[in-house]
Amino acid sequence: MKKNYVFYAVLVILFLKDCSACFQKDQENSNIVTTGSTFYEECCCEEPGYTVKNLQWRDPHDRVIVGPGTDSKVFTEEQTNCLSLHIPVSTKNLAGQYRCVTKFENKQYKEVYNLDVYDPVYFYETRNNQNLVLNNNSQITCKAKGASTPLMRWYKGKDGQTEIFNDTAKYEITHEGLLIKNVNSEDEGTYKCSASVLSTGEEVEIYIEAKVMTPPLITQMVASPEAKLASGETLMIQCLAEGWPEPKREFKKVGDSNPAGNKTVNWIQSNDTIRFKNIKPEDAGTYECTAFNDAGISKKQLNIVVLTRPEIIGFSNKSAVEGAMLPIICNATGLPPPKVTITYEGRSLDEERYTDYEEEIINFSTLHVNRSSEGIYICNATNIVDTTTELMYLAVLHQPYFDNTYELVWAWNGETVNISCEQESNPPANFSWNYIKDDYATVKSQALVNIIPDYETELEHSFTFSNEFAPFGKHECWAKNEYGEANKVYYIRKGFTPSIVENASSIDETATSASFHIEPPTNYDGPNVIGFIAEYDQADNYDITNIHPNRTWATGIPFKLDKLRPNTTYYIKFAAINRVGTGEWSGLMSFNTMDKSAPEPPIWQVDALELSSSKVLKWKAPENNGEPIDFYVLRYCPMDEELDESLCKEHKLKETTELEVPDLQYNTTYYLELIAHNARGNSAPANMSLTVPGEILSAPSSLLSAGAVIGISIVVVLVCLVLLDVLLYLWKKQGIIASCCCKKSKKRKPNPLNARDKKGLLKDNGKSGTDDTLKRPDNGHKEYEYNKTTGIITGKHSSV
Ligand SMILES: *[C@@H]1O[C@H](CO)[C@@H](O)[C@H](O)[C@H]1NC(C)=O
Ligand SMILES: *[C@@H]1O[C@H](CO)[C@@H](O)[C@H](O)[C@H]1NC(C)=O
Ligand SMILES: *[C@@H]1O[C@H](CO)[C@@H](O)[C@H](O)[C@H]1NC(C)=O
Ligand SMILES: *[C@@H]1O[C@H](CO)[C@@H](O)[C@H](O)[C@H]1NC(C)=O
Ligand SMILES: *[C@@H]1O[C@H](CO)[C@@H](O)[C@H](O)[C@H]1NC(C)=O
Ligand SMILES: *[C@@H]1O[C@H](CO)[C@@H](O)[C@H](O)[C@H]1NC(C)=O
Ligand SMILES: *[C@@H]1O[C@H](CO)[C@@H](O)[C@H](O)[C@H]1NC(C)=O
Ligand SMILES: *[C@@H]1O[C@H](CO)[C@@H](O)[C@H](O)[C@H]1NC(C)=O
Ligand SMILES: *[C@@H]1O[C@H](CO)[C@@H](O)[C@H](O)[C@H]1NC(C)=O
Ligand SMILES: *[C@@H]1O[C@H](CO)[C@@H](O)[C@H](O)[C@H]1NC(C)=O
Ligand SMILES: *[C@@H]1O[C@H](CO)[C@@H](O)[C@H](O)[C@H]1NC(C)=O
Ligand SMILES: *[C@@H]1O[C@H](CO)[C@@H](O)[C@H](O)[C@H]1NC(C)=O
Repeated sequence: MKKNYVFYAVLVILFLKDCSACFQKDQENSNIVTTGSTFYEECCCEEPGYTVKNLQWRDPHDRVIVGPGTDSKVFTEEQTNCLSLHIPVSTKNLAGQYRCVTKFENKQYKEVYNLDVYDPVYFYETRNNQNLVLNNNSQITCKAKGASTPLMRWYKGKDGQTEIFNDTAKYEITHEGLLIKNVNSEDEGTYKCSASVLSTGEEVEIYIEAKVMTPPLITQMVASPEAKLASGETLMIQCLAEGWPEPKREFKKVGDSNPAGNKTVNWIQSNDTIRFKNIKPEDAGTYECTAFNDAGISKKQLNIVVLTRPEIIGFSNKSAVEGAMLPIICNATGLPPPKVTITYEGRSLDEERYTDYEEEIINFSTLHVNRSSEGIYICNATNIVDTTTELMYLAVLHQPYFDNTYELVWAWNGETVNISCEQESNPPANFSWNYIKDDYATVKSQALVNIIPDYETELEHSFTFSNEFAPFGKHECWAKNEYGEANKVYYIRKGFTPSIVENASSIDETATSASFHIEPPTNYDGPNVIGFIAEYDQADNYDITNIHPNRTWATGIPFKLDKLRPNTTYYIKFAAINRVGTGEWSGLMSFNTMDKSAPEPPIWQVDALELSSSKVLKWKAPENNGEPIDFYVLRYCPMDEELDESLCKEHKLKETTELEVPDLQYNTTYYLELIAHNARGNSAPANMSLTVPGEILSAPSSLLSAGAVIGISIVVVLVCLVLLDVLLYLWKKQGIIASCCCKKSKKRKPNPLNARDKKGLLKDNGKSGTDDTLKRPDNGHKEYEYNKTTGIITGKHSSV
């Protein structure tokens, strides 16, 4: 190259020295071309005698440009008269001063071309669709470059007809674009941005579609079904947001460092919603939704409360020594914190014993353990989600306890005595029996062990006393465990029959009856008196016979004799009975029955309610005082403020103690009067007034149907009975028909049961259906009959 250079230089000098010139004037031009375009310029020889050889093109570095060559971006080309300069593709680094040079008479002339290469005006970073931010200053970006800073002009509208001026109030045109102040919805639309370069005369334009963008605004975070929910439920949290472009949502739990990262979340997000299929307690907390678009971001939080069912911790079986102070605490978790109650349920769940210790757990925390604390405790933890209960058994360790440490037991020949060393103890106690004989014993203390196998170690013994075997005396059992010991004494003593009845007197006599007060004897060794026997008779009979009627009473019922003869002297003696037998007779005492007289007043037995449905007036026959009651006179009068005698009705009734009164009006008060009559006259009237209540409305229909059924049944049974009776009569001359026909003539005896209770002793016991003094099942008393031979008193109805 250096050789070439030298060669060219020599050539140039040679040419210059040749003094040749093609033009004789200097000339200067400016040429501006855009990058990439072709630059072409001719330099021609005008002077005669000169050829192209006298022309030279020089580049900005003053180098001679030669013809087209290998990699030359600039080259010359010879034409007939001109030497043309070619730049096929202009680039910026080719810019500069190009000169066409010629020489004349040692003078050099040149045509100068200042080549300037510029890029064409163009837009950059300018999009066709742009967004504006509502209520904010927002720019439509339009940037252009060109040969010089392009002049930007803006137009609005589809056709770009309205020019926008730089008025600073609404629009500000900058190099960057158009700043629209306080964007409102009207600013949306098509804009035309035009960039022009004055130097090159270029102008380009671009249409930009501007949309008004609104920043996101989260209007609501909705939890469905609710922000407060129970563990295990399904939860959806929706993040409702406004804004354009449609904001995207991101959720995170506040406090989670890396929500989108590797921490696995318990939810699935789709669009604006996250969904928990099965919410867990640890999912409780604050959730934040972030809504974002190009216009901005918005955040909102929502607190989720996960409620959990109560769970009871550490309420487990315990055992404690009696006397200890035992904490009984029921700890429960759950949200909301559960209400906890501890209740004592007794020894077993079947036991109906409830003690409420609600809210008194603190007191429980220092439970002073004793035997009665043993049993089941239930802790109930309840909150709005659920209720949980836990059962705890408190076992109390304690020394043996006997229910009763001393028992006196009576025994006699034939009696069986059971003794037991049963005690309450935890853990079970060891025990042992010990015997100390007393005066009546036939068994020596040491000998019992031989007679009864395992006497000392058996829990229970049963001794049947006889002449040969009578272990009277002290049977003592000692029970012992690690917490202490206790003993129980059975004192088996020989039991005797009661001593003589010393205190008995007649307290009430009527014409046919007498009542007594008998004081049980106490001055004896033996079981308690359970009854009395009396032997009595008319005084006259004691001259005739030794056999007299007797009568037994159990204690607790009135000691009363009836069916006695009026106006008669009787003798009577008593003996007390206990389980051993009957004691000795007392001495005879006497009493007199009263003379015959008019009956006692009858005793009403009406119940207003019952009456209103049955309309039957009932009463109880009074003591007849020696003569049978032959009739009753019943009078009833409706009462309206005052008694109107004319409305009264009167019935005379024989041999009955009830009357059906169908004309009884509901809701009416009646005055009732009843008189009993016997051969001695009228009794005092028994009177009363009562109000028949209104008919019970609901009753009739059901009563009717039930009554109908019963009625039909009765009719059927009766028909059957009558048929049977007819058959019996025809065949064997027996049965009711037979007795009615054949025994009609026999006079019917007055009901002896109606002839008692002279002084109305039973008036207060009006409930009992019959007038038998002794039959008082309501009071729970039993009537006993004493069997003399066996000494056993059996519950049997006895009337002499
Ligand atoms: C428009 O006005 C602002 C302020 O008045 C000015 O800074 C800016 O250069 C102006 N733009 C044009 C293109 O004139
Ligand atoms: C979670 O990702 C972080 C880094 O991104 C990593 O250090 C960490 O060990 C990851 N934890 C788990 C449990 O993968
Ligand atoms: C939610 O996604 C569905 C498709 O998965 C789409 O059609 C819908 O437009 C989206 N809604 C929102 C609010 O993004
Ligand atoms: C609205 O303009 C204010 C100040 O002019 C700016 O702080 C805020 O970020 C803008 N908002 C948006 C969404 O560009
Ligand atoms: C009950 O819970 C409290 C507090 O959590 C704790 O201090 C106590 O030890 C618990 N009691 C029992 C018996 O577990
Ligand atoms: C519980 O204890 C407190 C004091 O410790 C006492 O005032 C309260 O009466 C007790 N409640 C019961 C039911 O014993
Ligand atoms: C056990 O304690 C309860 C209550 O403190 C008391 O009523 C009861 O008498 C006690 N029982 C015994 C056997 O001490
Ligand atoms: C627990 O207590 C709640 C109310 O306090 C009651 O409704 C529930 O029946 C109780 N549960 C049991 C098993 O006693
Ligand atoms: C607690 O005690 C009860 C009664 O003794 C028994 O049935 C139950 O199995 C015990 N429970 C536990 C967990 O030991
Ligand atoms: C009681 O009388 C009956 C007969 O009525 C007689 O068999 C019985 O022996 C008498 N009882 C006494 C203790 O006299
Ligand atoms: C009662 O008996 C006595 C003697 O037995 C007799 O004198 C008297 O007349 C009797 N009274 C009547 C009313 O019968
Ligand atoms: C019974 O009488 C009372 C008032 O005396 C009246 O209110 C009621 O309706 C009457 N009932 C019938 C069933 O007549």
